Amino acid sequence: WVSLQSLSHVCLFCSVALLLPRGHLAFLLLVSPAQQFHCSFNKMFRVNLLNYFPDGKGVYPITKQYAAKCGYNILIHLGKVELRASYFSCHTENNDDEVFMFNFNMIVMDKGKEVTYALNKTCSLPIPWSSREVTCEINYMEVSVRREVPCPTVRTKKDDQQIFPLVCYSYWQVMFQRAGQHLPPMSLSKAQAQGYVFDFTDGRLVFRTPYGQPDSFSTEVNGVPVEVVNAILFSRKSWFVFMVDFVASCSLFEGSYDNGYMVWKTPEMLYPSLNNMRISVGLSGELVEQKIAKERGFDIGKDNGTIQIRMPYDMKGHYSKSFVTDKLYRFYVFNLYFEQILVDENHLETRLQFHKMLATPLLPWPVFTNNLTVIEEGMFNVYLGNFPSDVQLTAVVLNGQESAVSFTNTSSPSITKVVQPNNTHGYTLKVPFANPTVVHKFSKKDGAFQYLLNINYTLVVLPENERFYHLTSLAALFTQISPPVLDPICSESGISFRVKNGPFNYLWDMSIGPDLLTAQLAAQRGYTIHNDSQSLLLTVPLFTHGYEYKDITLSKFFGSFEILMRDHETWEVQSSTVKTCLFSTTELIVCSTDGKMTVVVDLSQFLPSEGSPAQTSLIDRDCRPKETDNTRALFSFPLNACGSIITVKLKHLVQSILS
Ligand SMILES: *[C@@H]1O[C@H](CO)[C@@H](O)[C@H](O)[C@H]1NC(C)=O
Ligand SMILES: *[C@@H]1O[C@H](CO)[C@@H](O)[C@H](O)[C@H]1NC(C)=O
Ligand SMILES: *[C@@H]1O[C@H](CO)[C@@H](O)[C@H](O)[C@H]1NC(C)=O
Ligand SMILES: *[C@@H]1O[C@H](CO)[C@@H](O)[C@H](O)[C@H]1NC(C)=O
Ligand SMILES: *[C@@H]1O[C@H](CO)[C@@H](O)[C@H](O)[C@H]1NC(C)=O
Ligand SMILES: *[C@@H]1O[C@H](CO)[C@@H](O)[C@H](O)[C@H]1NC(C)=O
Ligand SMILES: *[C@@H]1O[C@H](CO)[C@@H](O)[C@H](O)[C@H]1NC(C)=O
Repeated sequence: WVSLQSLSHVCLFCSVALLLPRGHLAFLLLVSPAQQFHCSFNKMFRVNLLNYFPDGKGVYPITKQYAAKCGYNILIHLGKVELRASYFSCHTENNDDEVFMFNFNMIVMDKGKEVTYALNKTCSLPIPWSSREVTCEINYMEVSVRREVPCPTVRTKKDDQQIFPLVCYSYWQVMFQRAGQHLPPMSLSKAQAQGYVFDFTDGRLVFRTPYGQPDSFSTEVNGVPVEVVNAILFSRKSWFVFMVDFVASCSLFEGSYDNGYMVWKTPEMLYPSLNNMRISVGLSGELVEQKIAKERGFDIGKDNGTIQIRMPYDMKGHYSKSFVTDKLYRFYVFNLYFEQILVDENHLETRLQFHKMLATPLLPWPVFTNNLTVIEEGMFNVYLGNFPSDVQLTAVVLNGQESAVSFTNTSSPSITKVVQPNNTHGYTLKVPFANPTVVHKFSKKDGAFQYLLNINYTLVVLPENERFYHLTSLAALFTQISPPVLDPICSESGISFRVKNGPFNYLWDMSIGPDLLTAQLAAQRGYTIHNDSQSLLLTVPLFTHGYEYKDITLSKFFGSFEILMRDHETWEVQSSTVKTCLFSTTELIVCSTDGKMTVVVDLSQFLPSEGSPAQTSLIDRDCRPKETDNTRALFSFPLNACGSIITVKLKHLVQSILS
């Protein structure tokens, strides 16, 4: 609740109507009292109350009538509240038309409690008064003229500041003129009851009227709608008649939107002028001369007797807000301030000021997604953008499953916010193809593989938290997919196989014969698996399960190891990799699949001093070594021959040979 007061506790404002689209009627809750309270150069008080939040609870207690009558205007837009008060507004103390003091109480609902702030501001005249000053406010018209009354001002009491009516004249009356016709005169009190205000200050006569009064008339000047109120104030003293002709004339043009520009128009000469008029224009309380205004993007043109001001919709100084119905929209609001100084042939100056709040229609705000997927990276990568700062992403549904998406780049799937230099932002979403939400489709016929991802983004418009969704579908198609290739490497102690980690590796399984290669199998058999982000390295040490041996001599032999790639689903063998390496022989005992056992053994410590390996035999004396050197012998024999006793340890075998 905000109320203005000076002497008595009068609630001045009890309701408000707004220009904004639906749902924006209530902006309330002040955080701290008016920190920005200026005397503006255009002879107005301005109070900016920032940081309001809509709590949906209440409405500003403003009566439109009282504000219009008294010279106040409260603008509530996009979470900001601005109060403008004329220097001649009700309850403002006026010292010689030079110093003005404005008092008001601001009552704020803060967590259900009323908090009152007593505020005041004293302003001295920033620029001298013109002979005539006309203000076209949003809710009223005000005209003040220099008082040139041949009559002394008499103050009866010191407090009695308003010398009204002028004491040397009596019986003031007002007569309105409409479309050239005089309406019957009425007394001032009757006029005041109808919402008009006449005020007599030390040096000026003031007239204020709301728009749309019965005595006003609307017309068109050079194609621009204009409202005019012509009030003739008169009084008689003996045979003198004193008259003041007030003409309040304002452009009613509401603004139009034309192809990226907000346009406002006013007739060039609402008041008589020679050709040398001066124009200033600005947004949100600022006012600059025409030349500087042009540099800031205003386009001020004259055409067929009208002044036309064009502003790019995103010009600096605007307010904007996102809005969602079926899709995302944005509208832009301009607090236009326009001033014209006109000088007539008698060198009398009229300063004409307009305050206008212009709003664009809801302009569609395009939302797009950009497919940044690079198939080799093994993930979907999609950019969603670009949003103004009051729109945020809150959730993502991937193929119908609400995904726990965190805004970090380490999780998977991951979302990162990307801030663009022009104050917009977007989001990059990365979903690995192997993520369980991704739909896989394999066409054996085409040898093609397809990943499908439907994304349903949930976005909200702040601060109302209005949701909307954006949908997109991604597909990644792979053709000629083949099983991963194994790259074998021989070493002294065994064979290693390197497999590059690829996005499709999980479609296949590696097996050794019929046995699936798992970490458990590897541990059991003494294989080692090393996996990093690049590749997987399987090392099978010599003599572990799965080797085949050939051409064994005392100096060397061949060892082979085979790895099969099987279809993960059908278990069919898709490819096989056999690697044969040459190893040097020291001692060994191996069996081959055709039922032969081959043994190379160092006999030096078992032989008598003069003995030679060539003279040894197995238990069966006919089984002689195939090959010998100074210390070693190589025996090769069928498993069921040579009286062999099958044991696992070489030493036992040797003992049984020699016994
Ligand atoms: C105006 O406000 C100031 C504080 O902001 C206060 O000190 C001063 O007394 C007030 N003056 C009047 C006349 O209320
Ligand atoms: C100016 O007015 C004339 C006559 O009314 C009209 O023909 C012309 O189109 C107008 N020019 C523009 C730019 O509106
Ligand atoms: C993740 O983001 C941080 C900063 O937000 C950046 O330093 C880091 O390099 C990023 N990591 C990756 C893998 O993109
Ligand atoms: C903001 O910048 C982005 C990236 O440069 C651009 O695509 C977008 O159109 C710009 N948006 C506006 C409103 O200027
Ligand atoms: C997108 O998700 C929202 C809820 O998260 C749901 O209401 C809406 O129907 C979804 N849209 C589509 C087209 O699936
Ligand atoms: C997205 O990008 C990928 C990789 O470049 C491409 O295969 C796919 O066809 C694109 N389009 C869609 C709609 O996913
Ligand atoms: C190896 O690591 C990659 C990436 O770190 C992973 O995708 C793959 O599933 C891992 N392979 C095995 C067999 O653990």
